[in-house]
Amino acid sequence: MRIGIYGGTFNPIHNTHIDIAEAALKQFSLDKVYFLVAGNPPHKDTAETIPDACRLDMVKLAIEDEPGIDIDVREIYRTGKSYSYISFTEIKKEHPEDDIFFIMGSDSLLYFKNWVKPEVISQCADILVAPRLGDDMAVLNDAIDECKSLFTGDFALIDYKANGLASSVIRNDFYKDESVRNWLNPKVEEYIIDHNLYSPYSYDYEDILRLSQEMKKELKSSRYVHTLGVATTAYSLALKWNYPAYTAMVAGILHDCAKCISDEKRIAVCEKNNIPIRDIEYQYPHLLHGKVGAYYCKSKYDVFDEQIAHAIAVHTTGCPGMNLLDKIIFVADYIEPGRDKQPRLDILRSEAYRDLNSCVFMILEDTVNYLNENPEMVDSTTIDTYNYYLDKMKGEV
Ligand SMILES: [Fe+2]
Ligand SMILES: [Fe+2]
Repeated sequence: MRIGIYGGTFNPIHNTHIDIAEAALKQFSLDKVYFLVAGNPPHKDTAETIPDACRLDMVKLAIEDEPGIDIDVREIYRTGKSYSYISFTEIKKEHPEDDIFFIMGSDSLLYFKNWVKPEVISQCADILVAPRLGDDMAVLNDAIDECKSLFTGDFALIDYKANGLASSVIRNDFYKDESVRNWLNPKVEEYIIDHNLYSPYSYDYEDILRLSQEMKKELKSSRYVHTLGVATTAYSLALKWNYPAYTAMVAGILHDCAKCISDEKRIAVCEKNNIPIRDIEYQYPHLLHGKVGAYYCKSKYDVFDEQIAHAIAVHTTGCPGMNLLDKIIFVADYIEPGRDKQPRLDILRSEAYRDLNSCVFMILEDTVNYLNENPEMVDSTTIDTYNYYLDKMKGEV
């Protein structure tokens, strides 16, 4: 067997990675290429990057329909620094009879001699180098010649015309310039949006402390305890479903921030800020606490993330086609540890970690049953949401 190992952070994976793997498969008659997803590479500061699980998910989505390409997750799960020589020593041991090829970008090759134990890597694998846009080929060929003279393994250039963007450009411009999305598999693009990746807003524990203190002053004590329950449940669901966990926690902390104000004030805030009010909301103004809460996020609490505002706006009724954070907050609000009146809570609490859409549907089912017994309180959005998730459960959307 001839096995290619393509190392990288894949943050995010894009079409150029797939093209390079396919070019290497063809040119060097490889049987398989594995994307070796880096965990905590020693040469990169990963403090600002996205959850590792999201990078893995995106690679899996991008290679679903690529029969010659697979994924190697060993570095993601390794503790400590993730040195390539450790991975290649393991891979060679697992495949003693096979030829191993290490596929890397030209930027990596230029520093290869400075890596930790490059001689061990080159004993285990031949190096295949993918040129990048703007490379000076003379410099690249000199680097290859130098590596050949220093190390035992072979070094070769992949015959691939570089024309793609760097992952860093996609990260920086994803929300500013939609044309960069053309370099992504549509499933990866959808994943980035749904998981709120590369957002200009991110949150940390300091934000959690600040907003919790604000809510402690703002809310009645029982509402504050409920809020903490929703925030921690949202945090835990976010970890399970690979959503940025502090972002989910901030949404949980703020979701009822407009709950403890008067009906008159809720209506006044909406009217003053051109937030539309439906008839049922005039009739039951407490239903407005989601919309007013979304408005307060920005105006009172300096939280500008649109996904947080949206999740708060729809948390009471849900809405058809909720995004991941909407579902996390909708579910967390219903199953947090302080709840004890709703039916089948034990089942819902475990379903939330097994199948989030199914849990959303079950909650809507119970809500619709409850509303059928109290028909004067029916909000049509709840019914629309129920019908949407009913179709989703049948596989129709
Ligand atoms: Fe609420
Ligand atoms: Fe709530």
